[in-house]
Amino acid sequence: MSESFTIDTATISLISPNISSNQVTQSTPMKLGILASGNGSNFEAIAQAIEDGYLNAQIQVLIYNNPAAKAPLRAANRGVEAVLLNHRKYNSREAFDEQIVRTLRDNDVEWVIMAGWMRLVTPVLIDAFPNRIINIHPSLLPSFKGINAIEQALQAGVKITGCTVHLVCLEVDSGPILIQAAIPVLPGDTPETLHARIQVQEHRILPQAIALAAQRQ
Ligand code: GRF
Repeated sequence: MSESFTIDTATISLISPNISSNQVTQSTPMKLGILASGNGSNFEAIAQAIEDGYLNAQIQVLIYNNPAAKAPLRAANRGVEAVLLNHRKYNSREAFDEQIVRTLRDNDVEWVIMAGWMRLVTPVLIDAFPNRIINIHPSLLPSFKGINAIEQALQAGVKITGCTVHLVCLEVDSGPILIQAAIPVLPGDTPETLHARIQVQEHRILPQAIALAAQRQ
């Protein structure tokens, strides 16, 4: 062979089929409440998709549970109200979720997006928004549920990993899958390098999956 065929393994990705190419634009925007515990890059991706016209939605409120989270700064830049609900101040997970539900209802939220929400949820929240809670997880579920999904994948030595957007049910990181994106694990990957490449995919599929969830109803 005169020329070698090379694939750029650092950027290649595969996204599960979806119907984004012929998306029906909902006549009424989806009213989103976003739950975030940390950096908030997925919050930003959703806000950007709305601004760019790819997602017919509006962010009613951001709820964050960690006073040190960066997500509220991003919300402020986007003119979105951010509410701190510190789980440490509640006696039980249920009491915490009750306050979350109250805050979401006060803000007229219809869809709940867990964008890096590092708390286990209870039936109090799940039953308040049946089939309308969406989570993003940094693995190809059902592999590597729970915390440290990226470390788990590296430890297992998988050669392909990725991220999953799914509807939330009581069992952690379970529930119907909406969209997945797969990427290769590269030689020498660390949790940080792998997470950075997974996040590129998260920011692509989360807004798509939100639109898809609305169309499934
Ligand atoms: C994401 O990798 C998500 O999959 C996981 O937590 C991370 C949140 O990232 N659940 P960010 O706060 O949206 O930047």
